[in-house]
Amino acid sequence: MLAMVSLLCAALLCLLLFVVWKVRTNGEWALWWHDNYLERLKDFVTGTTRPIRILQFVQRCAKHGDALSVISAIDSFCSKVEWAMNVGDKKGEILDAIVLETRPRWVLELGTYCGYSTVRIARLLPPGARLVTIEMNPHYAQVAKEVIQHAGLEAQVELLVGSSSILIPQLKKKLDIEKFDLVFIDHWKISYLPDTKLLEECGLLRAGSVLLADNVVCPGAPDYLHYVRNSPQYQSQYYQSYLEYLQVEDGLEKSIFLG
Ligand SMILES: C[S@@+](CC[C@H](N)C(=O)[O-])C[C@H]1O[C@@H](n2cnc3c(N)ncnc32)[C@H](O)[C@@H]1O
Repeated sequence: MLAMVSLLCAALLCLLLFVVWKVRTNGEWALWWHDNYLERLKDFVTGTTRPIRILQFVQRCAKHGDALSVISAIDSFCSKVEWAMNVGDKKGEILDAIVLETRPRWVLELGTYCGYSTVRIARLLPPGARLVTIEMNPHYAQVAKEVIQHAGLEAQVELLVGSSSILIPQLKKKLDIEKFDLVFIDHWKISYLPDTKLLEECGLLRAGSVLLADNVVCPGAPDYLHYVRNSPQYQSQYYQSYLEYLQVEDGLEKSIFLG
């Protein structure tokens, strides 16, 4: 009997170690663990949502009007307390460098979530520049609005709530925009390609506009990558990095629209 129990305990321990190893080294396992299992468990235990927990941490730990302290607070929360799907600190540095080299007047972000990348981008914009960010989940959008306000960046940001496929065709009329200089693509991966084609059709890109797509390796956007890497209308480059707050490969694809 004792031998059976010991064997069972050893088998369970091996299974646990296997799951821990897979979650640390495999992107799909890591996303499933953090995004489904742990998030639902914490929501159930705390009676809150992950975006609310992020917002509460920002309100407690970040200085009002200080964008950098908002970014640091979210990075700290997501690496030490609870993972979340922000672009993260490592890929965030690549995003920062591309915003600085592009010096955009008009930026579009697809997928706001809690406003982490919105704050990262908006804090680096030159005077008079605007960032339009689109989020279809009203709860996430409300949290993002408060995070952006906490960072003191609400004057630079236009947050639109709704689906990108519906809002993109309305942008020219709604906001009096001609073309976007930079587009940060970070919503559901299945929408990367159709929304890129929609931006082209709606005349929202100019020769030289930069598209920067997140998560092109994990979870991956193969149809989008095939398109920008093979179309004569784009000059495309991969920036290797890591999935937010984890040691799993991921990267950004920068694609210059050639017109
Ligand atoms: C990966 S998160 C964005 C993370 C954010 N850019 C950051 O780095 O802080 C993706 C977000 O896109 C939103 N989303 C997905 N598909 C969308 C669509 N078609 N239109 C608007 N928002 C969408 C989701 O609700 C989710 O909040």
